[in-house]
Amino acid sequence: MAHRILVIGGTGNVGGQVLSQLPATGVRVRALARNPDATRLPSHVEVVGGDLTRPETLDACLDGIDTVFLVWTAPPAAVAPAFERITRHARRIVFLTSPHKTPHPLFQQPNPLRGLHAEMERLIESSGCEWTFLRPGMFAANALGWWASQIRAGDMLRWPHLAAPSAPVHERDIAAVAVRALCEDAHAGAEYVLTGPESLSLREQVATIGRAIGRSLRVEDISPDEARRELQMPLVVVNMLLDAWAAALGQPAFVTSTVAQITGKPARTFFEWATDHAAEFRPESVRGGAAQER
Ligand SMILES: NC(=O)c1ccc[n+]([C@@H]2O[C@H](COP(=O)([O-])OP(=O)(O)OC[C@H]3O[C@@H](n4cnc5c(N)ncnc54)[C@H](OP(=O)(O)O)[C@@H]3O)[C@@H](O)[C@H]2O)c1
Repeated sequence: MAHRILVIGGTGNVGGQVLSQLPATGVRVRALARNPDATRLPSHVEVVGGDLTRPETLDACLDGIDTVFLVWTAPPAAVAPAFERITRHARRIVFLTSPHKTPHPLFQQPNPLRGLHAEMERLIESSGCEWTFLRPGMFAANALGWWASQIRAGDMLRWPHLAAPSAPVHERDIAAVAVRALCEDAHAGAEYVLTGPESLSLREQVATIGRAIGRSLRVEDISPDEARRELQMPLVVVNMLLDAWAAALGQPAFVTSTVAQITGKPARTFFEWATDHAAEFRPESVRGGAAQER
């Protein structure tokens, strides 16, 4: 029987790619959206309004669904009532969580998300549903929030712990594994740690973006205290990143071949990711010019 799949988080980095990669035939695909009228998704996707923090909205989204792809960025207090409804309807859940069990220092620093992810996994495991946990390391897409505005503004970037390595994973590869886990029967009980194919320091990642956009970017290492003052992110996030990068210094990033094993294709490199997103690092004037040329 064809799967009837609900994607939660379909307007985000990974969920958006899952919706694009799910086949247009052979499965029925629905997306839960907080603002269904403002959501532009592939034409084969049915969009239903719902909000994880308003559990009474979830039954209509889950009606007739057997399989759920779950991205959770809503507040922790909403977990229990939402899960009660999701696990009542779903037979299979593919959950985007994190590699908090992997014994590499980058993934082992205390932070509030670790506890939340562990608790959500426990609820799913005890629900009686079939489950697959996707445990990506650092998203390549983090580079957009971290660096795009500085790179659009000029060639100089100020950043802490530039020597810290990670293996950034392309959202398309996370989604490709998710699609297999949603559509195939062989992934029940699997926990997939997903990384990009190579260990790259933050300095090398910035240089890679420079190559992809044809610019020579310069970087200046700043202290953790300067980062706390300058980075445009909530302090709790800055501290989480500083701790992870500091712990990761001096050893290569944790790299898995899981993307290739599950999808049959090698994980995309950070250069491929930067090329896919080059326009987002170019100044508005250049992007406008490129659009006019097209
Ligand atoms: N960044 C990393 O390096 C990293 C590494 C490992 C794991 N992760 C995990 O990956 C997840 C984030 O994935 P992502 O980057 O794809 O997410 P994202 O781009 O931030 O998208 C979040 C999605 O969740 C939806 N959403 C938020 N609150 C909602 C609510 N109350 N009800 C319904 N939908 C709601 C958003 O919908 P709207 O359009 O309505 O806002 C959006 O579709 C997090 O759980 C994070 O811990 C991240």
